[in-house]
Amino acid sequence: MQTLDELKRECLDCTECALCEGRTNVVFGDGDPNAEVMFIGEGPGADEDRQGKPFVGRSGMLLNDMLAMIGLSREKIYIANIVKCRPPNNRDPLGVEQDVCIKWLRAQTKIIKPKIIVCLGRIAAMRIIKPDFKITQEHGQWFDRGGFLFTATFHPAALLRDPHKKPDAFEDFESLRRKIEEVCEHTVLE
Ligand code: URA
Ligand code: SF4
Repeated sequence: MQTLDELKRECLDCTECALCEGRTNVVFGDGDPNAEVMFIGEGPGADEDRQGKPFVGRSGMLLNDMLAMIGLSREKIYIANIVKCRPPNNRDPLGVEQDVCIKWLRAQTKIIKPKIIVCLGRIAAMRIIKPDFKITQEHGQWFDRGGFLFTATFHPAALLRDPHKKPDAFEDFESLRRKIEEVCEHTVLE
């Protein structure tokens, strides 16, 4: 089977959808290839496009704070996005772009084999958990499917826009902490 590095090398050359035209870098994903917890965002923003890494801008800083709150850090998890190239003007990735790009994420998941998958925001939750996912009503709930445990919480960008959502997001992270303690074997919380 392909390694994550081999898959990454292939993905960095991808021109399978129109998003390749505007990108500076493909944002493949980052973190521990043996992670038991995988986070999935929507797509790269300007900072991510420039640096070639997921969640390195303002949203990423907030995500780091929330991870720290439950004793997690970026080195212990893996983070990827639904689409690997930046949509122009940070628009939502189109259905067709997601349809084409999702194969990379599926391949990443197959190699990493996380126990827990956390969707960040509505777009990821609708694509990964179910098409009619309602983030305001269903955030923090757990879905057990195909050997993975799935949950979704608000996208950090949504928390920056509307800080009133933060307490709910904190609760989701507390629930994640409990789930990690319950099912993970080598993820150490500090
Ligand atoms: N927002 C996302 O969904 N993904 C990133 O990598 C950065 C911001
Ligand atoms: Fe390929 Fe995905 Fe980039 Fe489209 S967004 S060019 S499918 S890597």
